[in-house]
Amino acid sequence: MISMTWVSNRMARRFIPCLMLLIASVTTDLTCTDLRSVCTCGMKLVWHEGAWQNLAVVNCSSAGLVSIPNYSSLEGHEIDMLILNNNNLTDIPPKAFRNLTVKELLLSRNPLKSIRQNLFAPLKDSLRKLELQGVELYIDDGLVFLSNLDQLRALDLGHNHLKNEYGELTEGIFDGLALNSLKTLGLRVLKLTKLKEGAFRGLPNLEELDISINYLAEIPSELKNVKNLKVLNMYSNEIMILKNGTFDGLTNLETLYFGANEIVTIEEGAFAGLEDSLQRINFYHNALTSVPVDAIVNLRKLKMLGFAANNIQTIENGTFVGEYRLEILELDKNPLTYHEDMFTGVEDTLTTLFIRENKLTTLPLRALRKLKRLSHLDAADNHITEIDKLFFGNLKLSKISLMWNKISKVDPSAFKSLPNGIILDLYKNLLTDISFILKLEECKFKEVDVSSNPVICDCFLEEIINSGRVATSIKGECSFPEDDSKIYRFDSPQLMERLVESCNRTKKYAFCLSAVSRASSRVTLMSVLVAIMTSITYLQPHV
Ligand SMILES: *[C@@H]1O[C@H](CO)[C@@H](O)[C@H](O)[C@H]1NC(C)=O
Ligand SMILES: *[C@@H]1O[C@H](CO)[C@@H](O)[C@H](O)[C@H]1NC(C)=O
Ligand SMILES: *[C@@H]1O[C@H](CO)[C@@H](O)[C@H](O)[C@H]1NC(C)=O
Ligand SMILES: *[C@@H]1O[C@H](CO)[C@@H](O)[C@H](O)[C@H]1NC(C)=O
Ligand SMILES: *[C@@H]1O[C@H](CO)[C@@H](O)[C@H](O)[C@H]1NC(C)=O
Ligand SMILES: *[C@@H]1O[C@H](CO)[C@@H](O)[C@H](O)[C@H]1NC(C)=O
Ligand SMILES: *[C@@H]1O[C@H](CO)[C@@H](O)[C@H](O)[C@H]1NC(C)=O
Repeated sequence: MISMTWVSNRMARRFIPCLMLLIASVTTDLTCTDLRSVCTCGMKLVWHEGAWQNLAVVNCSSAGLVSIPNYSSLEGHEIDMLILNNNNLTDIPPKAFRNLTVKELLLSRNPLKSIRQNLFAPLKDSLRKLELQGVELYIDDGLVFLSNLDQLRALDLGHNHLKNEYGELTEGIFDGLALNSLKTLGLRVLKLTKLKEGAFRGLPNLEELDISINYLAEIPSELKNVKNLKVLNMYSNEIMILKNGTFDGLTNLETLYFGANEIVTIEEGAFAGLEDSLQRINFYHNALTSVPVDAIVNLRKLKMLGFAANNIQTIENGTFVGEYRLEILELDKNPLTYHEDMFTGVEDTLTTLFIRENKLTTLPLRALRKLKRLSHLDAADNHITEIDKLFFGNLKLSKISLMWNKISKVDPSAFKSLPNGIILDLYKNLLTDISFILKLEECKFKEVDVSSNPVICDCFLEEIINSGRVATSIKGECSFPEDDSKIYRFDSPQLMERLVESCNRTKKYAFCLSAVSRASSRVTLMSVLVAIMTSITYLQPHV
């Protein structure tokens, strides 16, 4: 024991300087000690545009600022993000950003009301993204402060105002500003009722437009002038009909979000012209009574269709026979009846199906078994009480969500024919006992979530937690029958202390994770760092 501790100690002494070096080498001298009372500065690992990135961040958000700090100590640094959100800034003086290099400036939720004409001019060559949500700006007062920001890719002007009484986005509002690089524009929550012809003139490279949560009752014809449009978000407007040829000419359009409108009619030619571009359409929460078969039949690139929360009762045989290869389908919250031939046409392509809130008591296996490639099934929020032996039939699912049901019994053999490495979500059910995990092969499950179930803390649970049978994570909490007021999370040390009083501590015998990571051979710097950190934390008490 003593020599073990000594070895560990020695290892730790060798490790720690290495680690320091590693950390030091990824940190530059962006410290801004003079701003310490209001901002945090430094390199930060941030989930950003779909990846973990190490960014130089100056974060002065939610600091009660009424005036902008003196940033002269940041001159000469490349700042990836300067965050000033959620403050009480009103007038920002013209030299506030002088001599700074900032890629993303976040100024949302400050009562600015207006912005000085040359405020952002010093950032002309560096600024890629500007967030101005909820700054009490009147958009139609003019946007001259954006002039010449010719590197700007993304601009968010949501949650602001229009002074004209009709709620119109007037024409030429971006014209002459030289916003030649702008790709993403956010105009949500502006009480917009109309987009005038010419409103987007001056934005030759616009690709993504968010005009959600407004009062638009028609698809603006001005959209046809946004020739490079790829993503259109019209979530929560007042659209009732999609007319023939609405998007004609927008041959780059890939994604349409129409959630929370009042669409009842989709004409046959509604998506004409998008045959070789449209990939995703979401009609969440509209008033459709059937799938618009004729409108979608020729959409060769279509991969994802969402019809959640409509009023679709039947899907006739042949509904999904088209030129597309559909992968993802959402049918949640419809008064649907299921039958054997409803998925004809997508048997060999559909991988992901959502059937939440459909009042199901069992899975509609007769319909599902036709889907040969189905691997991800979400049947959350139904009326399922039991996973019996035949529950999954011969489906080959690897990701299963059954959250928000009333499941109290699980027959382990239900999972027998499923492949190993299942991700199973049983959040909010009525399970007291999860010993089915012990009755299946080791590594059957990659992740299991049984949070918000009345699980009992017992020796089966001890073995599940300590054995390593569930590859990456087992999440949940439990209580002891004799004192069920206290609830322990599975990862709490107090739980393990209490469990090993009565059960023998199970030695880890299943090594699923190493099998998984060897298989995918993805060892990142992060996971190495985390491993080192973990071993140091573990060693600390001995040191
Ligand atoms: C900035 O700080 C706020 C408040 O402290 C925090 O919520 C936010 O996550 C931080 N942002 C970044 C990118 O670090
Ligand atoms: C900001 O700080 C620098 C250096 O401390 C100083 O020279 C400069 O005058 C300050 N600027 C303002 C506007 O106070
Ligand atoms: C913002 O500043 C104004 C005065 O400029 C003050 O009346 C108000 O209470 C401040 N609001 C907050 C949230 O600090
Ligand atoms: C900051 O900008 C001013 C004028 O724009 C310039 O005279 C000065 O040299 C700059 N300082 C640095 C450190 O670049
Ligand atoms: C849709 O419009 C095209 C011309 O733009 C026309 O050829 C076609 O017949 C129309 N279809 C319907 C269903 O109105
Ligand atoms: C459903 O349609 C397919 C072809 O689209 C056909 O082969 C099959 O017989 C139909 N089923 C029924 C019950 O009509
Ligand atoms: C613990 O292990 C010992 C020896 O292997 C065994 O006799 C005992 O029954 C075990 N206790 C429990 C609760 O499993």
